Amino acid sequence: MMAKDNGTASAGKKKPINEMTLIFPALSRNESFARVVAASFISQLDPSIEELADVRTAVSEAVTNAIIHGYEDKAGNIKMICLLYDDSVEITVIDEGKGIENIELARQPLYTSKPDMERSGMGFTVMETFMDEVKVESEVGKGTKVTMLKYFKSLKDKERRAKNDK
Ligand SMILES: Nc1ncnc2c1ncn2[C@@H]1O[C@H](COP(=O)(O)OP(=O)(O)O)[C@@H](O)[C@H]1O
Ligand SMILES: [Mg+2]
Repeated sequence: MMAKDNGTASAGKKKPINEMTLIFPALSRNESFARVVAASFISQLDPSIEELADVRTAVSEAVTNAIIHGYEDKAGNIKMICLLYDDSVEITVIDEGKGIENIELARQPLYTSKPDMERSGMGFTVMETFMDEVKVESEVGKGTKVTMLKYFKSLKDKERRAKNDK
């Protein structure tokens, strides 16, 4: 868990084969918009249905957090950056909201600062489960940046199958 906190997104060292940035207001209806855009963007790599679902779910959690916790339903913009590599995607969700005081605590399974809102406290755990690396950077009063990396292992399987078929 700790190693993940300090881990750098290793794919970041390579040159992306494609990239895009999306900026949208922190409205709850943009949560589904953001996850559809992310899924659509990575579809060009032809990942598996499961990998697509994993990315959608993780993006959804990160964007929801920016809206509900970052801006607490106040106005503000969310930036989503997608860097596509030949075997992976790095997605960064940035808000300029209130920030996180204790990142380690916030990442604990079941921890939520809004138990009254029936939050599950599992957002970060879900992101970690469905993505290969999750980095959280935050400054109180400045905002939060969540960087998630996902390797598309299904592409390797596909390559292998294609080779074996020859
Ligand atoms: N973008 C953010 N800005 C400010 N605080 C955040 C942000 N994302 C997460 N947090 C904090 O981390 C906690 C845990 O987040 P999460 O695991 O998604 O659980 P939940 O959203 O159900 O509370 C939140 O309750 C909140 O205090
Ligand atoms: Mg959450």
